Amino acid sequence: MADLIEMRGIEKIFPGVHALKNVDFELRSGEVHALMGENGAGKSTLMKILSGVYAKDGGTIRVGGNEVTIDGPRAAQALGISIIHQELSLMNDLSVAQNIFIGREPRLRFGRLDEAALNRRADEIFAAMNLHLDPRTKVERLTIAKQQMVEIAKALSFRSRVLIMDEPTAALNDAEIEELFVIIRRLKSEGVGIIYISHKMDELKRIADRVTVMRDGETVGTVPAASTPIGQIISMMVGRSLSDEAAVIPDLSAAPVAFEVKGLRRGREIRDVSFSVKKGEILGFAGLMGAGRTEVARAIFGADPIEAGEIFINGNRCHIRAPADAVAAGIGYLSEDRKHFGLAVGMDVRANIVMASLDRFTNRAGQLDEKGMRGEAAKYISLLGIRTPSDRQEVRLLSGGNQQKVVVAKWLLRDCEILIFDEPTRGIDVGAKAEIHKLLQSLAAQGRAVIVISSELPEVLRLSHRIAVMCEGRLTGILPGGGKTTQEEIMHLATLRESAMEPVGEPA
Ligand SMILES: Nc1ncnc2c1ncn2[C@@H]1O[C@H](COP(=O)(O)OP(=O)(O)OP(=O)(O)O)[C@@H](O)[C@H]1O
Ligand SMILES: [Mg+2]
Repeated sequence: MADLIEMRGIEKIFPGVHALKNVDFELRSGEVHALMGENGAGKSTLMKILSGVYAKDGGTIRVGGNEVTIDGPRAAQALGISIIHQELSLMNDLSVAQNIFIGREPRLRFGRLDEAALNRRADEIFAAMNLHLDPRTKVERLTIAKQQMVEIAKALSFRSRVLIMDEPTAALNDAEIEELFVIIRRLKSEGVGIIYISHKMDELKRIADRVTVMRDGETVGTVPAASTPIGQIISMMVGRSLSDEAAVIPDLSAAPVAFEVKGLRRGREIRDVSFSVKKGEILGFAGLMGAGRTEVARAIFGADPIEAGEIFINGNRCHIRAPADAVAAGIGYLSEDRKHFGLAVGMDVRANIVMASLDRFTNRAGQLDEKGMRGEAAKYISLLGIRTPSDRQEVRLLSGGNQQKVVVAKWLLRDCEILIFDEPTRGIDVGAKAEIHKLLQSLAAQGRAVIVISSELPEVLRLSHRIAVMCEGRLTGILPGGGKTTQEEIMHLATLRESAMEPVGEPA
């Protein structure tokens, strides 16, 4: 039987980057075909060519055995190909339903928008996805996770034969990932072919039939997902094998407390949170999405107001009312939402890396030390393996994972006494993840206090010296790191709701 999709000898050249070199890729109907590879390997570019976003510079594409020309997103849609992009592309000020049917809205007589039909159709899709969402909600009011679900709903609404998902689960919690997998299995049984891009290795075994690995713009190979060991797929991706042993915990018994929070409160989001971090310590924060970890980080950083609470740095009480106060006090915060807070995507890589440390490159006359900035940028580009033709490349032209590495570099260079990293490795490939873990460990070894928020339990377990767990705005416990704690123990505290802690009442 002919392949549903057959891409042969695909070439793509951007200024300064040979992004795809003679790439072959095939998709059968009813299969989930995972596309893996390091940040910048060319995964999104290949899929943008298949979905008509970019024109290819060479090669052929066949759909159902026939050679086709895909000269725009509409041509791809007409061939039954739709894509969920890595970067969310919804219109913030339109409703959820309007976003899903943009350009194809049901109309009444005289061309008036048929709101009722629009919302009804959106509701039908949500019902099939088991998603509880009011189609009239404005997109700007949704969490990143919900926005991702809307992107998925939009792709489903085309009833395509081929569905491309570019890192669909990067911002989803476990329950949402389960829902997505149910949808994927249903589509599969209906004969839809699915191309699935992800950096989460455990998802491979759970959902994929075959895996194609790309490296440096080339196809390394295609293997069956079930019978190929993860270790082998990782070495195909990064050209070496990686260890995933838990961090060795340094002896911190004599280390002074660098940072302490007492009685932090704001409404139901932050309910009396207190903890401390020693110099040289990595404190991991685990919890389900919405547990309040980001809220705590933002409150400490002065990004949101608090109702009560005290913050001490090296034993001295600090008053933080705005992020500038926090930075002045030696606190750095890498936000989970890099698009809004972390990056100036229209500026180049160098400018973004030095942005938070400009004081260090400015002399008394106010002149900037260009050579120094270039040197530091080069250092972090090589340290983190940021894939870019030069440090003058605009950040928006980098692959998703390489953009994330730029934000990480920015805060590593800033070198604060207290560093808070919120989902630092989201969208980052396994090899670079290991590098970032090493860098965080060396920051701690230099005496910094490091707080890492992560939704990936294996990451929390591997990195943390101690693990703080939150549930519904409360700190439900602090567990030891270094391989002494299991995922189950964390999950127990992460789901320890207040109702479960209340006395059950006297037996009758
Ligand atoms: N519009 C563009 N202009 C210039 N270079 C680009 C453009 N889009 C992508 N690139 C470059 O092409 C290469 C491949 O990028 P691509 O986005 O396909 O990587 P990826 O495999 O999806 O990585 P990630 O896992 O980080 O998302 C990268 O070096 C990237 O910087
Ligand atoms: Mg990508």
